[in-house]
Amino acid sequence: MKIDLTQIADQSLKSSHQKLKEFFNSVLKKVTNNQSGSIIRILFQETETELKREILIEDIKQIIEAQTFERAKYYVNRLIKTLTEVKQSKINDLNLNRWKEYDDLITDSLWIFNKRDNSGAHNASYWGNFIPQIPNQLLKRYTKKGDWVLDPFAGSGTTLIECKRLGRNALGIDLSVEATDLCKTNVEKEKNPFSVITEIINDDSAKVDLTNHLNRFQTKNFQFIIMHPPYWDIIKFSQQKNDLSNASTVNEFLKMFSDVLNNISPHLEKKRYLAVVIGDKYSNGEWIPLGFLTMQEVLKNNFKLKSIIVKNFEDTTAKRNQKELWRYRALVGGFYIFKHEYIFLFQKK
Ligand SMILES: C[S@@+](CC[C@H](N)C(=O)[O-])C[C@H]1O[C@@H](n2cnc3c(N)ncnc32)[C@H](O)[C@@H]1O
Repeated sequence: MKIDLTQIADQSLKSSHQKLKEFFNSVLKKVTNNQSGSIIRILFQETETELKREILIEDIKQIIEAQTFERAKYYVNRLIKTLTEVKQSKINDLNLNRWKEYDDLITDSLWIFNKRDNSGAHNASYWGNFIPQIPNQLLKRYTKKGDWVLDPFAGSGTTLIECKRLGRNALGIDLSVEATDLCKTNVEKEKNPFSVITEIINDDSAKVDLTNHLNRFQTKNFQFIIMHPPYWDIIKFSQQKNDLSNASTVNEFLKMFSDVLNNISPHLEKKRYLAVVIGDKYSNGEWIPLGFLTMQEVLKNNFKLKSIIVKNFEDTTAKRNQKELWRYRALVGGFYIFKHEYIFLFQKK
């Protein structure tokens, strides 16, 4: 369906609240009477743009129901901006004048996902991988097409697959040879519609020479870093001493995490974002707040905290089978069962 809004610019509408209301009432009638398609093509001053039907209806109703003429004109100008101007920040490709259309983006700090995205090359075979929705949400908010993303704990390549889909270049690093091989296989399976580079390297993220790699890619620095370290020793990823999952104490774990951070953070562009995805641990009758402890390590550096997101753990079959046992243990032991992990978001100062 196509409608012509060019008349909004007419002097008669600009000077009479009544005429403005009448005009938008007639547009509303047209849009609601014709139910074909969810997208409306709008002609305004010789340019044609598209807008979702429900968003246009909402905008028109706001104009009609405005209490004062001034307010109605304000809403009209906002609609014109939506149709004619692009407002972008330096860190993503979102057009903020069309913010209402991004209903796939979460803006609350509580993330509940009922199931993982298993489409394309994504699969849950690597024990300890995160759900693709995490990098998907973050990449859309904190990167632009063509940006460079670093994942220093790449594992099976969830971030790299998402980068390929969204047109972001990515470097993944993992200490484990098995993980690196699996990551390569997974990432190769994903199509590359934007012809980006996604590379995985088998190395220690506390020591890897990032200047060398950035030079190879002929780029200066990364625009986003996502860290998904082992949650200390909950899952042992390898036998190697420099694997964070082999730290013998929590302090050693934090020191190893900081060594990685110190090695990579100089290569993040100023004002850009760093995400740390991590959960807590329960050991010897005590809750160990790995999340907040690692957060403090990051804050010792040149970063400010932008958000703490709490994300649910989806129920896996294994967990579902043990549910009753854990309920009993929780009641006996006087604690609560983990149902969440954290996504800490920082901005480099
Ligand atoms: C929680 S997993 C990451 C999973 C990943 N996000 C995914 O979706 O597959 C943590 C990863 O860190 C790796 N790792 C541990 N210590 C490391 C280190 N010093 N340098 C690089 N990788 C390391 C482990 O091999 C493991 O694959």
